[in-house]
Amino acid sequence: MPDSSSSSDIVIDARAVEKSFGDGSDRIHVLKKVNFQARTGEITMLVGPSGCGKTTLLSAIAGTMRIDAGDISVFGSDLVKMSGGALTRFRAKKIGFIFQQFNLIPTLTVAENVGVPLLIQGVSASKALKRSREILEQVGLGTRWKDRPNKLSGGQQQRVAIARALVHQPPLVICDEPTAALDAQNGEIVMDLFRQVARSPDRAVIIVTHDNRIFSYADRIARMDDGEIVEVKEQATDSAPEFQHEHALE
Ligand SMILES: Nc1ncnc2c1ncn2[C@@H]1O[C@H](COP(=O)(O)OP(=O)(O)O)[C@@H](O)[C@H]1O
Ligand SMILES: [Mg+2]
Repeated sequence: MPDSSSSSDIVIDARAVEKSFGDGSDRIHVLKKVNFQARTGEITMLVGPSGCGKTTLLSAIAGTMRIDAGDISVFGSDLVKMSGGALTRFRAKKIGFIFQQFNLIPTLTVAENVGVPLLIQGVSASKALKRSREILEQVGLGTRWKDRPNKLSGGQQQRVAIARALVHQPPLVICDEPTAALDAQNGEIVMDLFRQVARSPDRAVIIVTHDNRIFSYADRIARMDDGEIVEVKEQATDSAPEFQHEHALE
């Protein structure tokens, strides 16, 4: 039964999520009953000081890490209840993840790295290569598809990681510091790509960042501190956001 007044646009609903690492006196409580939501049609940014738990929260939402307590619903599926195999299949289909450390495979070419999510879904190698080269073109790396990742600069590797996260058009794109290694020109290119994703039907983008050049792209900013979300702010982004070419003083 369709219900136009429901909150069906909420695609991530994390409630009272808890996670600790270590044992005994070394135990640290990293996520302290975190509540976090993200909506389709939006870029949600997660900001906060280093070590406050941002990457841990992303890993929980992306299903790459199990939590100690709480609930996480992603597109209506309860991640906590899913078996390992179901979670892996769900992730492959629904989520594009850009890791802080890129995680490119050194023995594969750039195009092969980008094509991995397509191959996992059973797309043929020739189709995967074609689609990978198209998206590499979009991120300004069209001529580098045959290179190994170690031939590329940090910023170029970051764009390969971004291309790999977008190639299979996942409805949810999750990024950990995606613009940190990018100059203004390339930063603007990838932010425009993320904006396109967020504005296409039933898709959402979540970005962990402390890059103040990109804040104007956020529809919503969640501020985290010491394992908790302490503030959520909505931003009007009706007009085209602008990439700030200067880093403000830290
Ligand atoms: N696998 C892990 N084992 C032990 N401690 C961890 C692990 N992952 C993260 N931590 C600790 O959890 C805290 C939060 O880390 P993280 O989520 O990476 O923070 P942020 O991304 O906000 O910088 C840090 O103190 C970090 O050392
Ligand atoms: Mg981090």
